[in-house]
Amino acid sequence: MRFSTCFFSLLLVVPSLALPSPRAFKTIVVNSTTNVELSYIDSGAPAGAATYPTIFAIHGIIFSNLVFQKLMDSASSLGVRVVGINRRPFPGSTPFTDAELNVIYTGGSGTAERQAELDARGHELGTFIANFITQFNLPRLSADGKTGGAVLLGWSLGAPFALAAVSAAGSLPPATLATLSANLRSIIVYEPAPLAIGLPTPSQNWNPLVDSTIPADLQLEAFGQWVTAYFDNNIANRNLDDLAWVVTSPSHTPTLYTIAAAGKLDAMQELGADAQTDLPFIFNFASELLGSYRNALFDANTAATFPKLKRSVLCGTKTAAFGVNGFWAIQDDQAANVPQASIAYKMMDGTNHLAIWDNPTTIINTVKSLV
Ligand SMILES: *[C@@H]1O[C@H](CO)[C@@H](O)[C@H](O)[C@H]1NC(C)=O
Repeated sequence: MRFSTCFFSLLLVVPSLALPSPRAFKTIVVNSTTNVELSYIDSGAPAGAATYPTIFAIHGIIFSNLVFQKLMDSASSLGVRVVGINRRPFPGSTPFTDAELNVIYTGGSGTAERQAELDARGHELGTFIANFITQFNLPRLSADGKTGGAVLLGWSLGAPFALAAVSAAGSLPPATLATLSANLRSIIVYEPAPLAIGLPTPSQNWNPLVDSTIPADLQLEAFGQWVTAYFDNNIANRNLDDLAWVVTSPSHTPTLYTIAAAGKLDAMQELGADAQTDLPFIFNFASELLGSYRNALFDANTAATFPKLKRSVLCGTKTAAFGVNGFWAIQDDQAANVPQASIAYKMMDGTNHLAIWDNPTTIINTVKSLV
């Protein structure tokens, strides 16, 4: 009897050890018709602060919003709140429907269908920010534009989605748009590849994602290792040939190893189905992404919709070459087409693509200087 009771309780215990309970996600519904929701992590209000800005950070390819953990750890002491949003279909956010996947993977029936899909991603993020402001009663942006409010930080492949949030905002429901336009004070475009905003890829480009000698099922993992390294770019002459397109720097440990040593890599890195939609999306949507980026940063009507919005482009000197390339490409695109637009360009000395992990204080202070 004693033995069998013991055995029975073991049966109860063992399954719960073998199957850890699923991660609990905090989510916000961003479309009440479709019930699409986005998951997020939130540093919370900085202790004792009457007002503060809230930075809404959008992650890139492979790495989920957990890549912003170090920013969150530093947020309170630096007087900001950081909210890391998981894009669809990353963990806790609604997976794409078959119809949405079809448009992403094939480019759909034409530009109207692609534009609607891109606008939907923008609406989801814009609605998230507006709903978050309302639900948590965030400090509103002051009349002088100097305190409170929201900052949209689009990092890496998160940048085109941040840009879509601004570009597509004009067709949001009026109440959502009103909250967003009254409170969004800054959009920061942080190290997208040119392709991610529809600009051309130069002949020098190399990374593990475009190397067909790497088995297809290892390309994402190889890219994650490579992109988190440091690169000894020579930026003095603003020449693409002087960037370190292939070889990583021997003088600094790639951040992926630091993240792994801290035991954080497995939870953060998505190499399965969640990671598969980003590349087809940027390849198939190039012309819509170009229009969306230009509309968000340079268009006069968008500027009128967001009268308090500052627009910036940010880059570290030791990031992967595509990041420096993207930074220069935006500068050149602006100079050629809209020299009158007011954009701040900020180059950070010595930081890599994972400065959000390696240099969180630098990043938050730089963001604060751009709001
Ligand atoms: C919610 O989803 C529906 C169906 O896709 C769409 O028609 C509508 O525009 C979406 N709402 C917003 C605010 O984007």
